[in-house]
Amino acid sequence: MKFSNPANLFLLAISASQVATARPSKTYTEMYRPQFHFSPAKNWMNDPNGLVYDDGTYHLYFQYNPGGTTWGAMSWGHASSRDLTHWTEHPVALQARGFPDNITEMFFSGTVVIDEHNTSGFGRRGKTPWIAMYTSYYPIEQVLPSGKHIRKDQQAQSIAYSLDKGMTWTTYDAENPVIAEPPARYQDQVLEFRDPSVFWHDATHRWIAVVSLAKLHKILIYTSHDLKHWDLASEFGPANAVGGVWECPSIFPLSLDGSSDVKWVLMLGLNPGGPPGTVGSGTQYIVGNFDGTTFTADTDSIHDGGAPEGSVIFEDFEGEKTFAERGWTATGDLTNASPAKGTLAGQNPVTGFLGEQLLNTFLNGDATTGTLSSTPFEISHKYINFLVGGGSNTNETAIRLKVDGRTVHTSAGSNSEGLTWQSWDVTAVEGKEGVIEISDNATGGWGHINVDQISFSNMRATNNVANWLDWGPDFYAALGFNGLPRDQRTVIAWMNNWQYGGVIPTDPWRSAMTIPRHLALKTIDGKAALVQEPAGKWKALTRGGRVFTFRRVDGGIRELGRLGKTLQIELTFARDKSSTFGIAVAANRDYTSETRVGYDFSTQEVFIDRTRSGNVSFDNTFASVYRAPLSVGADGTVSLRVFVDWSSVEVFGGEGEATITSQIFPEKDAVYGRLFSTGGSTNDVKLRVKEVDSAWR
Ligand code: FRU
Repeated sequence: MKFSNPANLFLLAISASQVATARPSKTYTEMYRPQFHFSPAKNWMNDPNGLVYDDGTYHLYFQYNPGGTTWGAMSWGHASSRDLTHWTEHPVALQARGFPDNITEMFFSGTVVIDEHNTSGFGRRGKTPWIAMYTSYYPIEQVLPSGKHIRKDQQAQSIAYSLDKGMTWTTYDAENPVIAEPPARYQDQVLEFRDPSVFWHDATHRWIAVVSLAKLHKILIYTSHDLKHWDLASEFGPANAVGGVWECPSIFPLSLDGSSDVKWVLMLGLNPGGPPGTVGSGTQYIVGNFDGTTFTADTDSIHDGGAPEGSVIFEDFEGEKTFAERGWTATGDLTNASPAKGTLAGQNPVTGFLGEQLLNTFLNGDATTGTLSSTPFEISHKYINFLVGGGSNTNETAIRLKVDGRTVHTSAGSNSEGLTWQSWDVTAVEGKEGVIEISDNATGGWGHINVDQISFSNMRATNNVANWLDWGPDFYAALGFNGLPRDQRTVIAWMNNWQYGGVIPTDPWRSAMTIPRHLALKTIDGKAALVQEPAGKWKALTRGGRVFTFRRVDGGIRELGRLGKTLQIELTFARDKSSTFGIAVAANRDYTSETRVGYDFSTQEVFIDRTRSGNVSFDNTFASVYRAPLSVGADGTVSLRVFVDWSSVEVFGGEGEATITSQIFPEKDAVYGRLFSTGGSTNDVKLRVKEVDSAWR
């Protein structure tokens, strides 16, 4: 080690003191310490890496900073488990080169495969090599032992091997990085090229690696015979959610509905731009096919922003006709007017409309006023869907449905030029005659309305742009285990979010993993969708089990008393008069602090409300409510499974088709619980509460 540079000395001093203060906890009993989720004894952790199952043992590697509780000096930490619930942490598997004072290479995310047939040639004396493929991140320009010239901040794909079942690793310095750069046409992306996930493709007898061009929202698919030489086979993307960078992509097969029909799933992280209502990181998936070289998405897994399939379009404002000529009764400034071709003079860009034209009442700026009334039509479907933007005051700018001269629904924009879908549930007036009226009687700021694509459907239009694997804020960089049979796909995700990950109030560690989950592919509403099931030996960890049954819970609150801090809850109930029903957990004695997990019958969504969950002050987006769509079951009941740990809540709705994962930082005595039934009573409530033992003792 050289100490000639005072800057290095200073850095060393900082890292040394961080190491000293971040003392491992033997007991795992610090405030907020997860009791049945993996967290490192000390220091910062992010993405799960190299998940691999071998001979009864699950290995979990993870992005780890050996020198502190914030991101830095990225290395691969290591833990293993025989039951996916009890974990043993091992020494760091791949430590940042030059750590702590002179780092020349960090080990970013990647995966591990077991090279049974020694295709790599790294095997010795009958020992099966394990290969890790990861992203090398080089903070400084350098020439490597392989002779390759590396730019400052370059990201490239490298390999390492282990001959002792993943405990110690040797980097392949003779040739690393094995994929030094993206293809020539993406040369400008050398700093945003990362997160290889590797697997053996039986049908073509080759290794496949999927790598992300993060900023371009593309994945590149490479093939190899020996894990050392890689050929580019194809690319995929952009598709669906692209609100942030694409990271940690992987593809894997699953049978559909347990049949012999096998589909492939692309799963990837998006940061920021996660699920609606969240800020920061999220995980999306796309269902499709993979033939050994190319991933092709199923058309119904792609969200194009259009009306639901099979919609009857009532008015799309396309074509060269005035409003009057297309059958609308127009008054005021709209009398001789026509639809607009997008943005009008003096207006900020209008976005989100379909085709070339829309109704835009910014004709003479906000001063324009007038009304449009449609020809009467029969209300033929359950929903009327439309895109709307512009002013938000329904007294000034509005779109309404009138039946027998009476207004039955009214909507407006949200003081934004972006059009988004809104829908009216019109089942109550189905079969009747309706008229749509669009009016603008405002002349001040936001005195205009934008409307497009008025259509009839039995499905609600959604503004959702993706298939979300989890609808909560704390589920990122999900990865599946290599080495398990196809239909035992088991994933673990980082239970945190880049939005606030570095400031969550835990010490001396930061971040935990989600509980492992089995994935299956099921046809839901005519479409292949992922469903999740908690994986692991839960029985061994749970104790007792209190059962509460109520034929009816009246509107208001039903106290449950002391429940505990680590819980596994099963809750089923049926709709009566309530608008929402659920359970508050991790509450203090006077319920000034609690986390609500429940169901909203009016929107058919399961939700977690952490607005009053305890310490929410470290980030101003943290105190929020998260929602996932979930239909009432065929038998008229809703069922939720909830896992509560010292700093997290995970809810699995229905058969696992809707999950929400959320961190919470409750008060010290947060052991109480109660049921809530808002707006009336709820029927047939069955509740089973088990306490979960610590997996660390
Ligand atoms: C995702 C990520 C990866 C990268 C790693 C670095 O959370 O940004 O893209 O490999 O973290 O720690």
